[in-house]
Amino acid sequence: MKSIFCLPLLSVLLLSAEGREPKESDNDVIYDESRIPAYDLPPLLVGPDGKTITNAHAWETVRRPQLLALFSNLLYGRVPKPQHLLTQTYELVNENPEFMEGKATRKDVKIHFRNAKGHLSMHILVFVPNNATKPVPAFLKHSFNNTQGDDFDASSERPGMIRCGWPLGDFFDRGYGFCAVYQQDLVSHNETEFLKSVHKLFYPEGQSFPKAHEWGVLATCAWGAMRAMDYLETDDTIDHTRVAIMGHSKMGKATLWTAAQDERFALAISAQSGCAGAALWRRKSGETLKKMVTRFPYWLCRNAWKFMEQEDDLPVDQHMLLACIAPRPVYVHSSVDDTWADSRGEYLSAYHASPVYQLYEKKALENVAQPEPGKPIIESHVGYHTREGGHSINPYDWKCFLDFADYHFNS
Ligand code: GCU
Repeated sequence: MKSIFCLPLLSVLLLSAEGREPKESDNDVIYDESRIPAYDLPPLLVGPDGKTITNAHAWETVRRPQLLALFSNLLYGRVPKPQHLLTQTYELVNENPEFMEGKATRKDVKIHFRNAKGHLSMHILVFVPNNATKPVPAFLKHSFNNTQGDDFDASSERPGMIRCGWPLGDFFDRGYGFCAVYQQDLVSHNETEFLKSVHKLFYPEGQSFPKAHEWGVLATCAWGAMRAMDYLETDDTIDHTRVAIMGHSKMGKATLWTAAQDERFALAISAQSGCAGAALWRRKSGETLKKMVTRFPYWLCRNAWKFMEQEDDLPVDQHMLLACIAPRPVYVHSSVDDTWADSRGEYLSAYHASPVYQLYEKKALENVAQPEPGKPIIESHVGYHTREGGHSINPYDWKCFLDFADYHFNS
C-alpha cells in the first residue's frame, strides 16, 4: 500500500514545508519545564542479555550494533540493498582556483549513481584553501543551500568572508576546507512519493514505495553524505581522516544519523537539531514525534509513526544516538529562544551519552546543569554551547564549531 493513503488518519494534516511558525494546532506544545512528564530513559549500558556493558569492547561489539539496528529499523529506516548493481562515479564538473580572489579553489563534483533502474546524480561543493601545503581537515555540511547555485560567488555580508551564510574566509584562514552536500539532490525536502528520488534505484520488481522499516528522508540525506565521504577519500587535497560532519536543524538530525553510522567521520556537530536530532523524545517538549510526522510524514520511516504519543515505548532515546558516535567527538548547539528544538532536551541527550565516552576514558559532560549562554564547552569529547537568540547559525556559533574542531584536530 502506498503510505500516502494513510495520511488522512493523522489528526492534523499539514504537508507544506513550512518553517517554525506556531499554528493553532500547536497550542498543546509543552514549553514549560514544569509540564514535562516524568520519564525514565532506557538504560544505555545494559546489553540485550541484561548484562551491564562495562568496557569499550562490549560497547562496540554488543550494545552499539544493537542500538544502531533499533534506530535503523524503528526510526530513520534502513537502506535496502539495491536489487541491481549500483555504480558510483565522480565527475569534476568545474574547478576554479581563483575563488575569493585566489584564496581558495572551488571544485564542483558530481557523483553519478547508475544501475539498470536508472541514473541520478548528486552535486557536491569542495573549497580548499590555496595556501595549504598538505591535505587539509574539512567540514562536510549537510546543506539547505543548493550546491549547484553560484550564490557562493556573490558578494555578502562580510565581503570576502561569508558566502551564503558560510564564513568561508574564516575556514580558509584557519586552514580548513569546506564541503557541502545539498539535501534535495537525492530526495526532496518533504518527499511523499519516493518515485523520482534515489529510492527508485533500489526498488525490486513490484515495489514503488519504501517499506515501513525502510529509509525516510533523513536516512537518505545521511546516505548521501556517506557517498560524499566516498568521494572525499579519493580527493588528495582533503585529509579524510579529519572530516567533521555538520548540519543545522533538519540537517543537524541528518548529521547525527550520519555520524552514528559511519565511523569515517571524525567529528560531528549538530546545530539546533531538536526533535529526531539531539533532543530526548521522552521529554515531549517543543516539537514532538507527532508534530513532526504530521508536518513531515516521511522524514523518519513509517515504523516511527507507531510511537506517536507512545514515546515511552521506544527502546531507544536520542542520548543513545549520540553515544553511537563515541569515541569520536560530538558537539551539540542550542539556543535559548529555540524552544521548538527543546534546548534542555538537546543538552540532556549529550549529558546522558557521556557515560559511553567515559568507557573510552574521554572527557565528556559531567554536569547535569546546562552551561550558561555564551559559555561553550570546547575541551571535551562531548562539547556544547547555547546562546541567546533563535534558530540560526550565527558567527559566534561558527567560531565555537571551529574552536571545537581545532581542539580535536589540531592540538
Ligand atoms: C521545522 C521542523 C524541525 C526542523 C526545522 C528546520 O521547524 O519542525 O524539526 O528542525 O523545520 O529544519 O529548520
